[in-house]
Parts: sequence; C-alpha cells; structure tokens
Amino acid sequence: MTYLEASRRQAEKLRGQEHLRILALETSCDETAAAVIEDGRRILSNIVFSQIDLHELYGGVVPEIASRAHMEACDRVVDEALEKAGMTLAEMDALAVTCGPGLVGALLTGVNCMKGLAFAAGKPLVAVNHIEGHVSANFLTHPELEPPFLCLVVSGGHSHLVEAADYGEYRLIGQTVDDAAGEAFDKAARVLGLPYPGGPRIDQLAEEGNPHYLQLPHPKLEGRYDVSFSGVKTAFLNAVHGMEQRGETLPRADLAASFRFAVCDQLTEKTERLLRDRIADGQRPVLALAGGVSANRELRRRMTEMCGRLGVKLYMPRIDLCTDNGAMIGAAACYQLRKGKVAGLELNALPALRFV
Ligand code: KG4
Ligand code: ZN
Repeated sequence: MTYLEASRRQAEKLRGQEHLRILALETSCDETAAAVIEDGRRILSNIVFSQIDLHELYGGVVPEIASRAHMEACDRVVDEALEKAGMTLAEMDALAVTCGPGLVGALLTGVNCMKGLAFAAGKPLVAVNHIEGHVSANFLTHPELEPPFLCLVVSGGHSHLVEAADYGEYRLIGQTVDDAAGEAFDKAARVLGLPYPGGPRIDQLAEEGNPHYLQLPHPKLEGRYDVSFSGVKTAFLNAVHGMEQRGETLPRADLAASFRFAVCDQLTEKTERLLRDRIADGQRPVLALAGGVSANRELRRRMTEMCGRLGVKLYMPRIDLCTDNGAMIGAAACYQLRKGKVAGLELNALPALRFV
C-alpha cells in the first residue's frame, strides 16, 4: 500500500473520531510557525518565530535568507509546538503544511519538512492554502462562526471580498485591480522612512495624526465591489517627494493617518456596499475580516462602526492571529481532513496557488 492509500484509509477512520488533533507548519513568507490545534477550533500551542530582524536591514523579505532561516528553525519550532501542547508526534491525528501561495523556497522548506515527518510517523498530511488559513483564523477566535459568511481578506498579497459558502469553498465577489492593501501600506511606510514591515508602523504612527491632512484620490472602478490602491499610493508618493524637494519637514503622523484613512475608507465603503446589497436582497449577511491588514486599528474601528450601523454581525480574528501563524493552518486543515482531503508525497510548493 502506498503512503497516500494508507493516509486515505486513516482519514476515513478519523471521520468518525470525536477529537482531531493536528500539528501544522507555516513557512510561506518570513515567519516559521507551528501549532497544535484541536478540532479546528482550539489552540493547544502556537509558536511563531519571526525573521523580521534578518530582513529589516534590507527593507523587505529576502527570499534566499527566508528559506535558509526556515530550514534552521523548522525542527525547533515544531518540537516546541508539541512540547507546549504537552503532546507527542504519535498523539497527532494528522500533520498540515502551507503549500502556497508564497515564496517558493520558503514554502518548499516547510512542505519537505512535513512530508518527511508525516511519512516517518505514518500520519496523513493535509496541504493548506495560506489564504484559506487566514480566513480560518476566525474559527479559532469565534467558536460559533460557521459558513456561510462574507469575508474581506486583506493581506500583503491579497485584497479580496469573498463568500465562504462552506468550509473550503469560496466565491469571489470583488478584489483589488492592482496592489494589495498590505503591499500599499508597506510602500507608503518605506517612503516615510519607516522600517519593514511597514503596515503596523504606519498604523501606530497614524494614531497621533490628522487623517484629513492630505486629500488622496478615491478611485472610480467598473467592478461594483473592486478596490484599487495604486492611485492612492502614487498620489501619496508624489506628495511626500514634493515636500522633500521643497525642504519641508515631513508631518509623518499626519501623512500616515491620511494614507491609512484612504485605504480603510475604500475597504469599508466597498464592504458596506456589498452588505447593503445583500440586505436589500432579503438576506442577513455576516461579515468576517482576515489577513495581516485586519490587525489595522482604523480598519477594525471603521468596520465595527459600519456593521453596528447596519446591524450586521462582525467577526475579526484575535490581533495575534491576523498575521501569519501556524494555528490558522491547523484550523483550515481540520475541515479538509474531515472531508478526506489528504496529500501524497508528490506534494509540491505552489507559489502562485489561487484562493478563488
Ligand atoms: O497576512 P500577512 O501576515 O501575510 C501575507 O499573507 O501577506 O500580511 C502581511 C501584511 C503586510 O503587508 C503588513 O504590513 C500588513 O499585513 N499589516 C498591517 C498591519 N499589520 C500587518 N497593515 C496595516 N496595519 C496593520 N496593523
Ligand atoms: Zn499571510
């Protein structure tokens, strides 16, 4: 019997089992993260080893450095996750790993680590889409949340409005026509001379600034639920460069606040439009946020205010589960395992893996 056949049999048996414990590993970008998750909802351990120090010097993630750092940290982080959970590898029902999207070398490190471990331990392996992981961070924070729900996914590479019709089933509703929200935050931060990663630093600085200091463009787009950040970014860069050329001191807090306002305004407006359309259609929509940018304070405030006004229930991941972690991968994996979806040893890294 091949490894995959054996895994499928085990997954079949696990379907009827009351509790499922999964050891998950995430290495798609610059965090080596492992977690032990029970039933897709409870965190038994969640270890995140951030590589920020290694990349800060270069102002962004250096893929080669990321892969090497993952290679050095994988074993240690996995051991620590098991130890913190007070469990052994033998006690795990399955293993899970992010297979994409992300940096190819970084993903490969994690995929190979978990393939080896799963084969040696004779455990099924579940391959998880990183973005589905971000959405699933909500299951860990809100045990009562179940599909269907609408979800705004805003990360370093994604800005999508989707409908989670069922576990692992997503329909695209709207998306960015150019840059992702996180990417735009990182670029704006760089222009203000803030260190990598820029999003959280802009967010922090913006708390003391005037959001109406700089008027940034509000794009008109064809897609009813689409967003665009490239025009906002260019206008921001031009304004900052202009000030620098005139020798003016940059009002950095006001600039950060204005940029954050422009991004959050667009995201909130399009999400509100979608919710209003659904309500007008006689539905009672529920909204979740996901991805690194969902940690943004202004976005959380604006969404809370807007959903409160519309009477829509809003779910947001706990702040530490918004950015990359292993727990969210374990949560997503649980629902795949329940459906019998397991990976074979031919599993590869899929850097451009799509979400919807
Ligand atoms: O979801 P994530 O951790 O990784 C990807 O899958 O891309 O998102 C990282 C992105 C970065 O662009 C980072 O600057 C941004 O999320 N981010 C934030 C905040 N925290 C993280 N952006 C704005 N405000 C924040 N508080
Ligand atoms: Zn991510």
